[in-house]
Amino acid sequence: MSLPQKVTINEVILRDGIQLEDKILSVNEKQELVNLLYEANTTNLEFGSFVHPKAVPQMANSGELFELIKHREALNLVALVPNLKGTENAAKHGVKRVNFVFSASNTHNLQNVRQTTEKSLERLKAIKEFCDNSDIKLEVSIATSFGCPFEGEVPVKRVKEIVKQVIELRANLITFADTTGMANPKQVYEFVKMMRESFPEQAFNLHFHNTRGMGLSNILAGIEAGITSFDASLGGLGGCPFAPGATGNVCTEDVVHMLHNMGIDTGVDLDKLIAASRRLKELMGHELSSYVLKAGKSNRQYKIPTEA
Ligand code: COA
Ligand code: ZN
Repeated sequence: MSLPQKVTINEVILRDGIQLEDKILSVNEKQELVNLLYEANTTNLEFGSFVHPKAVPQMANSGELFELIKHREALNLVALVPNLKGTENAAKHGVKRVNFVFSASNTHNLQNVRQTTEKSLERLKAIKEFCDNSDIKLEVSIATSFGCPFEGEVPVKRVKEIVKQVIELRANLITFADTTGMANPKQVYEFVKMMRESFPEQAFNLHFHNTRGMGLSNILAGIEAGITSFDASLGGLGGCPFAPGATGNVCTEDVVHMLHNMGIDTGVDLDKLIAASRRLKELMGHELSSYVLKAGKSNRQYKIPTEA
């Protein structure tokens, strides 16, 4: 197998991870999680979003959180934004990296950010201009890239056309998101290969949900197609509140565990990451879908039972 030496993990627990949770974390609880992730050598963190507080109340304290964690220079902090207003709000708090999200499928975009895909693309131009003038790095996430819970199949041709338009605006990174875990490994491999061949200069990142248990396999397919940057969420929490049937992101500690066992470096301290996940479980007050948290690492050895 031909594998990269290093893979970058973008932690999304504080954005995607908690946006479907009933419990709303206080800014201090979020800060505690950031500190634990930082101690585990997390380098890329999507810490929240600047969306309407009524749409996703779990994200309402994102600006306040940023003020508390921005001193951590080793952390690349990025905030999700759905429009110019959100980008301006992020800028007011001094955020230097934003991730503009919209969906390849029109129906999901209307549900999520209440505008057509075409309108989002049109508005992206103004956002790019604002970011350039404010010294903010702009990244772009294309939700439902591998399928839509309302429309079903999303034509690859359509996604490719969207990517072309985004690239013309010179985004730093384009994320393909599998919002409701519809992608399969063969699809991911062929999709990514085609995108990389079509846009060889562009950096891509992948965002998988484990809704149908294909998350880790999809990451492996992405790696085989040449991708070395992936989103993942501590404890496997997550899901889009405006996509029916959405469930958790691929779980960070499971991804890191798999990659380390394969000899691929992530820079992350897995034991400390597992400790952070344990704390997350306490904070959320329910079990997490993480395999490694339950089973321990694969080198765990049990005592041979002795007869009583
Ligand atoms: N943050 C906070 N408030 C915002 C905002 C933002 N990013 N964008 C718009 N608003 C406010 C406007 O100021 C306006 O307020 P007012 O009524 O007090 O004047 C109001 O919202 C309506 O503005 P409009 O531009 O018509 O927005 P909308 O009603 O079409 O909503 C979104 C669009 C994107 C703001 C909203 O749908 C949203 O926040 N969705 C959440 C998406 C999300 O987080 N999904 C999960 C992650 S993928
Ligand atoms: Zn997601």
